[in-house]
Amino acid sequence: MKLAAKLENLTKHYVLKSETVRALRGVSFDVPEGDYVAIMGPSGSGKSTLLNLLGCLDRPTSGAMYLGDANVAKMNDNQLSYTRATRIGFVFQSYNLIQQLTVVENIEVPLYYQGRLSKSDRARCLELAEMVGLKDRLGHRPAQLSGGQQQRVAIARSLVNDPYFVLADEPTGNLDSVTTDEILRLFENLNQLGKTIILVTHEDEVSAHAKRVIRLRDGLVQTDELTKNRIVLN
Ligand SMILES: Nc1ncnc2c1ncn2[C@@H]1O[C@H](COP(=O)(O)OP(=O)(O)O)[C@@H](O)[C@H]1O
Ligand SMILES: [Mg+2]
Repeated sequence: MKLAAKLENLTKHYVLKSETVRALRGVSFDVPEGDYVAIMGPSGSGKSTLLNLLGCLDRPTSGAMYLGDANVAKMNDNQLSYTRATRIGFVFQSYNLIQQLTVVENIEVPLYYQGRLSKSDRARCLELAEMVGLKDRLGHRPAQLSGGQQQRVAIARSLVNDPYFVLADEPTGNLDSVTTDEILRLFENLNQLGKTIILVTHEDEVSAHAKRVIRLRDGLVQTDELTKNRIVLN
C-alpha cells in the first residue's frame, strides 16, 4: 500500500535555558494513502508538536519522517517551505481566510506559490468550490459567509495542491453542533473520494468519524486503534 506519510522514531525536544522539554519522545506510525486519522490526547501530550512536524512547519530533533520518498528531517529550509506550500493542505479552527479575497480567490491562494494560474488551475478551483457545496457563493467574501461556509472554503483551499494529506487542527472547534456534523460529513465524503485526512481533536464525537484514532500521552503513542467507521466504510 502506498503511504502518505511514514514516521520513524520521531522526537522533538525544545531546548530552553533551564530545561529541555521532550515534547515527542519516539513516535512511529504509517499513514496509508486514503486513511482518515484523528489524533487525540490530553493538553501537553504533543499533538501540536506532531502537527507542526507533519505540516513541515518544523523539523524533528531525531528520527525520520517520509512524505512520499523524501525524508523531511533531512530537508533544508527552502525544501521544507516548498513542501509545506505545495504538498500539505491545512485547515484551521479559525479558517484563516483572506478577508479581501472572494471564495474562489481564497481557494486559489496556494497556487500563487507556483506562479501564474493556468486555465486548468482555475477550472480546478471552481470544481473544488462545487465539491464543498459553494458553487453559488463564488464571489462572496468571508464576512458574507457563515462559519460552516468559511470552513468549506478552507477545506477546498486545502485540496487545491493535491496534497499528501489534509491536516486539520480542531476544524470544528468554532462551529455549532449542526454545522460540525455537516463539516464532518464533508470530510467523510472527501475521504471516500480517496483524500487522506489527519485531524487533531479533543472531542470523541469528532474522532468517531475518523477511521483510526491515535492517542498521544507524554510525547508517545499510547494507543493506535481502528474505529467502527473503518469497518463500515471499507
Ligand atoms: N515552542 C515550544 N517551546 C518550548 N516548549 C514547548 C514548545 N511548544 C510546546 N512545548 C511543550 O511541549 C509539550 C507538548 O506541547 P504541545 O505539542 O503543544 O502539546 P498539545 O498540543 O498536545 O497540548 C508541552 O510540555 C509544551 O509545554
Ligand atoms: Mg495543542
